[in-house]
Amino acid sequence: MRESEGMTEAFNPFTLSGKKIIVTGASSGIGRQCAIDCSKMGATVILLARNEERMRETFSHLYGSDHQIIVADLTVFDAIPSMVETIVSRVGKIDGLVNCAGISTTLPLKLMTTTKLDEFFRTNVYSAVELSKEVSKKKNMNEGGSIVFLSSVMGVVGESGKSLYGMTKGALLSAARSLACEFAKRRIRFNCVSPGAILTPINEHLPHMIDPEKRQQLEEKHLLGLGSPEDVAYACIYLLSGASKWVTGQNLIVDGGYTVR
Ligand SMILES: NC(=O)c1ccc[n+]([C@@H]2O[C@H](COP(=O)([O-])OP(=O)(O)OC[C@H]3O[C@@H](n4cnc5c(N)ncnc54)[C@H](OP(=O)(O)O)[C@@H]3O)[C@@H](O)[C@H]2O)c1
Repeated sequence: MRESEGMTEAFNPFTLSGKKIIVTGASSGIGRQCAIDCSKMGATVILLARNEERMRETFSHLYGSDHQIIVADLTVFDAIPSMVETIVSRVGKIDGLVNCAGISTTLPLKLMTTTKLDEFFRTNVYSAVELSKEVSKKKNMNEGGSIVFLSSVMGVVGESGKSLYGMTKGALLSAARSLACEFAKRRIRFNCVSPGAILTPINEHLPHMIDPEKRQQLEEKHLLGLGSPEDVAYACIYLLSGASKWVTGQNLIVDGGYTVR
């Protein structure tokens, strides 16, 4: 205890204690790590994805009690209102939502079809918007709530073959800015986290990870090397916590220096 310096050992503006936080994509990669780390920060976490077995694996690493598993395909939009109602009836009003669920690809324009565009926008954009719409309702979210979209550096800069994925991530950046304006009166904040390359199941089979030459080039572009899921989870914790109570409509780039040059 160093009260003479105005500090106490309990000082922790990043705590999530008492907060109820939904994490989508919690069966894998960044969403899994985010769920685990939110629980370590004191939150009650609601895990959401399609694969129950992999969510149970995430669940086994959570700290504390009262966490929930919700098995759902987020592209079944009609089911979202009743799913959110179930969550609120179990844990009470929500304080935070991290939209991690997503898919990725490397696809040249000549192979892009409207079917692919539809698939990517449904999973990466529409699902996050529909879930946020429902969660942010007065009956479902506490004042001061925080909603985070997982965008990407591909929403900010370009790479060959990344137009389809990048379009979906750019859409989230635009959405967060205007939603921040719309919800400020209820002090509900919308922000994005934009990671650089993090090795997870989303990209382990993509050319830039499996081709040794491309992988090396990619690593060199990240001044601090490739990232880990916890690098992104820590950014999400900041945006979910009271420490960021004056931050809204922003894009927090977490990319080991990828975009600085
Ligand atoms: N890894 C990177 O380098 C990187 C970089 C920038 C941005 N991001 C973004 O970060 C987010 C998480 O990526 P990640 O690397 O953790 O990928 P990941 O390990 O492949 O995880 C993706 C998650 O999305 C869930 N998901 C996919 N479609 C779904 C659907 N229709 N309904 C419900 N859940 C669905 C998957 O769960 P189920 O299969 O169980 O449904 C899985 O839990 C994504 O939005 C991604 O675009 C990742």
